[in-house]
Amino acid sequence: MTVHFIGAGPGAADLITLRGRDLIASCPVCLYAGSLVPQALLSHCPPGARIVNTAPMDLDQIIAEIAAAHQAGQDVARLHSGDLSVWSAMGEQLRRLRDLGIPYDVTPGVPSFAAAAAALGAELTLPGIAQSVVLTRTSGRASSMPEGETLANFAATGATLAIHLSVHVLDRVQAELAPHYGADCPVAVVFRASWPDQRIHRATLATLDPAIGAGERTALILVGRALAAEGFDESRLYAGDYDRRFRPVGTAPRFPE
Ligand SMILES: C[S@@+](CC[C@H](N)C(=O)[O-])C[C@H]1O[C@@H](n2cnc3c(N)ncnc32)[C@H](O)[C@@H]1O
Repeated sequence: MTVHFIGAGPGAADLITLRGRDLIASCPVCLYAGSLVPQALLSHCPPGARIVNTAPMDLDQIIAEIAAAHQAGQDVARLHSGDLSVWSAMGEQLRRLRDLGIPYDVTPGVPSFAAAAAALGAELTLPGIAQSVVLTRTSGRASSMPEGETLANFAATGATLAIHLSVHVLDRVQAELAPHYGADCPVAVVFRASWPDQRIHRATLATLDPAIGAGERTALILVGRALAAEGFDESRLYAGDYDRRFRPVGTAPRFPE
């Protein structure tokens, strides 16, 4: 018996890995994390599967469901939105499973920041503009931020920011970032990236209207010069005169065949 933690992707039902889909189809028990996991994915469950929405449950209840499946020798598909490496609450579940001696594995998913960038048709790391992406959030009711992980500190690097769980505090985001990026820095807010009702707001730190964050909470705030840069350098990797292992160039290539 194994608990398969599966990244369910950002929303579109076909943005799941083949491995994730096949694992769902092989498990008689499926636990899924509420409204952010598309219901359509549950159609991959085998007939008669026990399908449980864990949104109203606490950690003890979730672990009790898994322990019951373990007792019965039944594999479990455990679905969380996006990828599991960020804000999935997987860490605490894995720790409980290790304590109980219940085997598990992890299958990655498409994270929401990647779906938002795709919706914008944007590369977040442009040569000479930004070569780092910071996945971050602001503090919330359930989670405070560790000291040092402030928007201002990240902004000081000039990296592209992908700010999660924060669309309700857009005014704070603007105020903290404008001194570092400049008021004319591009911002994009992508609501429900990849869902059928996806919406995109493009603005600058100065023109962004905080009121857009008053309703729907499932949104990514992307900030950085890479979002609207046109005058960036081309990557050296594909330059005609760049000698590299897979495309030796010149009379004395560094990596002769
Ligand atoms: C609990 S976190 C889950 C993150 C997820 N594990 C991931 O890989 O993206 C939920 C937050 O992720 C962002 N998010 C998740 N799905 C999204 C989507 N389809 N479009 C925009 N933002 C999304 C929002 O900021 C939302 O508040």
